[in-house]
This record gives sequence, structure tokens and C-alpha cells, in this order.
Amino acid sequence: MRISVIGCGYLGAVHASAMAELGHDVIGIDIDIRKIEQLALGKPPFYEPGLPEILTSAMASGRLRFSTDIADAAGAQVHFIGVGTPQKAGSHAADLSYVDAAVQSILPHLAAGDLVVGKSTVPVGTAARLAEVIERSGTGATLAWNPEFLREGFAVKDTISPDRLVYGVAAGAAGEHATVLLNEVYAAAIAAATPLIVTDFATAELVKVAANAFLATKISFINAMSEIADVSGADVTQLADAIGFDNRIGRRFLNAGVGFGGGCLPKDIRAFTARAEELGRGDSVAFLKEVDTINMRQRQRVVAMTLQALDKPVYTAKVAVLGLSFKPHSDDVRDSPALDVAVQLRGLGADVMATDPQGIENSRLRHPQLTYSTSVEETLRGADAVVLVTEWAEFKQIDPVWAATLVRVPIIIDGRNTLDAAAWRAAGWTYQGLGRP
Ligand code: UDX
Repeated sequence: MRISVIGCGYLGAVHASAMAELGHDVIGIDIDIRKIEQLALGKPPFYEPGLPEILTSAMASGRLRFSTDIADAAGAQVHFIGVGTPQKAGSHAADLSYVDAAVQSILPHLAAGDLVVGKSTVPVGTAARLAEVIERSGTGATLAWNPEFLREGFAVKDTISPDRLVYGVAAGAAGEHATVLLNEVYAAAIAAATPLIVTDFATAELVKVAANAFLATKISFINAMSEIADVSGADVTQLADAIGFDNRIGRRFLNAGVGFGGGCLPKDIRAFTARAEELGRGDSVAFLKEVDTINMRQRQRVVAMTLQALDKPVYTAKVAVLGLSFKPHSDDVRDSPALDVAVQLRGLGADVMATDPQGIENSRLRHPQLTYSTSVEETLRGADAVVLVTEWAEFKQIDPVWAATLVRVPIIIDGRNTLDAAAWRAAGWTYQGLGRP
């Protein structure tokens, strides 16, 4: 099938490559010429494991091309919209200007029977509004909403073998047509018996924000428990293990630490709250404000723990920060708790040196005032305290005996509760986790 993917960021570039890998004939479109030039050379403009391989193989097969000209989308039967919906400046609502612009730009190139498929995360009600825009265009094209659940770091696997498919479609013949086309797009996943839910626009839009709201709530719940653990002497990691064995609860997303960040969870719960307020039901999701507050408090908590652990004023201290990206296997530093902690400590006058296997370049662009090093050894050397804020395997594998020989004072704040506390203590470190004795 001929497919266009409009927007080639974290979502679109992976989607375009994965669709070509599955045998479709794909054109990826983006207005950012730098991004398109890099993709056309087979180089993803961001770090995503497995993406360079499928990008190169799909391009070599001739099934994947990139362009900055939206006219090149003409002739495709299915047009995916994968542009960003960031938080609006000065508000908690989502900025839909990129989605609106993408839909407007594709209108002149649509033919009867074409399907425009929204993948971006949008406030409920957006798809119905855009379906009307497409209908009024008189092109004979229609709209479907097919939310994307990929996780950064596992995006290729999540796109090729999703754990579920959700189609939000119009009622009647238009919806049936959309379902047939989407079933063709996802033929491989459907043959593999991937659960499929065909529903209305509003449900499809809400599935995505509800899923992210639930995940965010789970993380803030365990972080709240870690605060209680701190004042009661309990161990939140054992608590998570114990409640996680109840399969109604489950152990995943119960890791207490510096909190969630990234391009999705934080802005999605805020946009959800803003949309619910517009709909007159702000009270229904008012708890998400508390989820957000608990989450942001973890960053302050890690900074406060560091200040308290230091044996000298912060403005005279060298602090080694291990981690910048919002989670391992990603170079994404959008709303990253790790980068935020580094910046806050620098703001308090600390001499911060930070390292990360993938996040340095993006961090430097945003915060040139920090000192970065690609070497863990250099980062640790002479440090008055070490703060671990992204649980990369590289950091988990650090030998505490070796590390103790490098720092000035062996103090470690484990902002991800990921290290073996006993081993670090045995090597002479003052170890502090969050909600761990
Ligand atoms: C998320 C959703 O998981 C995905 O389905 C959706 O499509 C986009 O948003 P992603 O942003 O890639 O994906 O990251 P995710 O793996 O969900 O992690 C989000 C944040 O939560 C990270 O900062 C991570 O460190 C943090 N986290 C996760 C915790 O603090 N504790 C946990 O137990 C799990």
C-alpha cells in the first residue's frame, strides 16, 4: 500500500520506517529540511535502538523516501499525521497548531477514497473537528484516529508488533472503509492476533490520554509511598515488589525515583486536565494535578537530599550527575527530571559535571552552562557528591570500589533506586535512595 507519514520526529520517523519494513511503499514528509536531509542519508536525527537498521534496509529496498514537499504525498492512499502536540506556551493545554497545519497542507493532495489517519496525541474532540474539515474540503477523503502507544527506546518493536491497535472511525460506510484500509496497513499485526478495538473518535482519543494518565498515576503513587517510607523507615522497593505480586496491581511502573518526564506523560496529563476543564469536568481528573505535583516534588527532593548530604556549601561543591535523558535507551531530554536536577544544582552554584551515554548533545543545546563529559571517570573525579538520575546500564555497572577511589567524598544519591545499596555501602559510600533505608 502507498502510505505517507507527515511529521518525521520520534513518532513519524519510526512509523515511516516500520511501515516500509512491513512492505508498504512509504514517503515521509517533514517541513524541517535538516531532519529530512539526515533521514534521506539513512541517519535518524535522534537516538532510537534498531531504527538505523530498519531505516537503511527500507531505503535500500526503494520502499522508503523522504521529502519536504507535501505534494509528494499525493498518490498515497493512507496519510498518517505524526506531528507533535506540545504544551502550549503559558497554558496547560495542547498546542494543536502543527496538527491543524498538517491537515491543511495535505488537503490539496487528497483524492477520493484516501484516508487521513491521526496518530498524534490530541484532546478529545479534535478528530471530530478535523473530520469535518476534511469532509468540507470535498475531496472525498475521510479521517480515522489511530493512537500510537510506542515507548521511546522500544519504538521499533512497539510499532512493528504493537500490544494493541485502536481505530477511531466515523459511523457507517466511511468507518467501514477506514477499517478495511487500516487492516491492510496493519495486516502483519492483525495476522499475529494483535488485539484490535474499533471504536468512535472520542474513545480512540481518550484511550491514549487515559493510558498515559494511568501510567503517570502509578508512578506518582509509588513516589508518594516512597515519601511515606522515608518518614517511617520502610523500604519502598520491597513494598513495590510485595504489592506488585498482586496481578491486579502489577510490578511495572512501580519504580520510585526522581519521577517521570519526556515528551508525553507530563504534557499529556496537563492537556487532559485542561480539556476536561473545558468540557466542564475538571473535577473528574483533578487528581492528575496532584499526580503532577507529586512528580515535580521528586526533583526538589533529590536536589534537597544532595544539599543535605554535602559536607560543604553547595556553591563550593563539585557534583557529579549521572544521567541526563528522561529514561535509558533515549537521547530525549524533553522535560527530563535528570537534566532538571543538574540545572537546579548548577543554579544553586554547584560545579556540576554531567554525563549520559546519549543525552549530552541535546542537553548542551538547552543548557550550555553545565559541564558535560562523555567519561564516567572524569565525571566522578574529585566529586563531593554523586547523583544518579537516569538508570542507564552503564551507571548500574559502575564498580563502587573503583568509583570510591575517584571522588573526594563517597556520597551517592540514587535518584532511581537502582543500585545495590549494600554493595555501595560496603565500598565505603554513604548511600541514599528514595524511600529506602
Ligand atoms: C510513554 C508511554 O509509556 C507510551 O505508551 C506512550 O506512547 C508515550 O508515553 P515514554 O514517554 O517513551 O512512553 O516513556 P515511559 O517508558 O512510559 O517512561 C516515562 C517516564 O516515567 C520516564 O521518565 C521514566 O523514567 C519514568 N518511570 C517509568 C518511572 O519513574 N518509574 C517507573 O516505574 C516507570
